[in-house]
Amino acid sequence: MEKLMSIRDLKFVPESYILPPDSRPGDTKIPFCNTIHVLDLKDPTNLVQQIIEASTEFGFFQLINHGVEEKLLQDVSNVAKEFFGLPAEDKAILFSDDPSKSCRLYTSIDYMKEEVHYWRDTLRHSCHPLEEHKQFWPEKPAQYRDGMGSYSVEVRKLSLYLLDLICEGLGLEPGYFRNETDQLTEVQFLAVNHYPPCPDPSLTLGLPKHGDFNLLTLLLQEMDGLQVLKDGQWLAVEPLPNAFVVNVGHALQIISNGKLRSAEHRVVTNRKLARTTITSFIAPSYSCQIEPARVLGPPLYRAFTYRDFIASYITDTYQRNPPLERYKLQL
Ligand code: OGA
Ligand code: NI
Repeated sequence: MEKLMSIRDLKFVPESYILPPDSRPGDTKIPFCNTIHVLDLKDPTNLVQQIIEASTEFGFFQLINHGVEEKLLQDVSNVAKEFFGLPAEDKAILFSDDPSKSCRLYTSIDYMKEEVHYWRDTLRHSCHPLEEHKQFWPEKPAQYRDGMGSYSVEVRKLSLYLLDLICEGLGLEPGYFRNETDQLTEVQFLAVNHYPPCPDPSLTLGLPKHGDFNLLTLLLQEMDGLQVLKDGQWLAVEPLPNAFVVNVGHALQIISNGKLRSAEHRVVTNRKLARTTITSFIAPSYSCQIEPARVLGPPLYRAFTYRDFIASYITDTYQRNPPLERYKLQL
């Protein structure tokens, strides 16, 4: 609990947060990338094609006019910031080292195991079905449960709609991601990430280079800090007011038989300002079988259960192995 970054207010970077020189972000300022597609959901012209192009090229795109009300976005951003501003004793109730908890506040995923620590705290909880999980969410701030509840429902609807468009664009049978029996989109969780100001952002990261292991991620960010890796270069994602940053996860890369890219990304810290983001993850249930869609040609990956994938993802992450490598088929 005393390791939580949001209660420490550090004036220097402790040794255990300093990255090895080859993974430090350094001092070079990375300009905003102006080629990451900004897609307008209200403009149907070539929308499906553009989503596929963006997901193939970058694995990331931004979404505007998505239909989620601005007021709701502002309310949840505020409530997220208020949560991290609460006194330590309010946060202590939710702090846990147990990753199986439905609602959990932590700093690193596994603080004891990791070689270097990261400059952030995360409140992570399941969201679907809402009534099963809401009771475990924070009681403070008072608006948290209702605000995040409405937000998770809206963001889930939007994610499923995007997956329908992706389904169409890939030429899969309609409803591929909604089929109740294969539970591809059964799970949803939110991560509310908080990155406090850091005395030396050149030495640290808020989140290390990683790919998301789920299907589709929607991020709400008000401030810069997110960077995407493309062709060996880090690109900074510009915060656009009320937009979502959407990215393809590993499970979707597999289902698309490698057509869509699950791009690696990271978060840099800021010297002066705290940054709070809200990430929604749509994911398969543990027992779900993940495999390339049959219509997409000879499979490049073998089939596996999502449960096995999560386990191997964790091992591979600690050993710094690319997590999809072991699932590739020799052609
Ligand atoms: C994540 C993530 C980015 C951010 O939670 O997986 O990549 O900007 N978050 O908080
Ligand atoms: Ni991520």
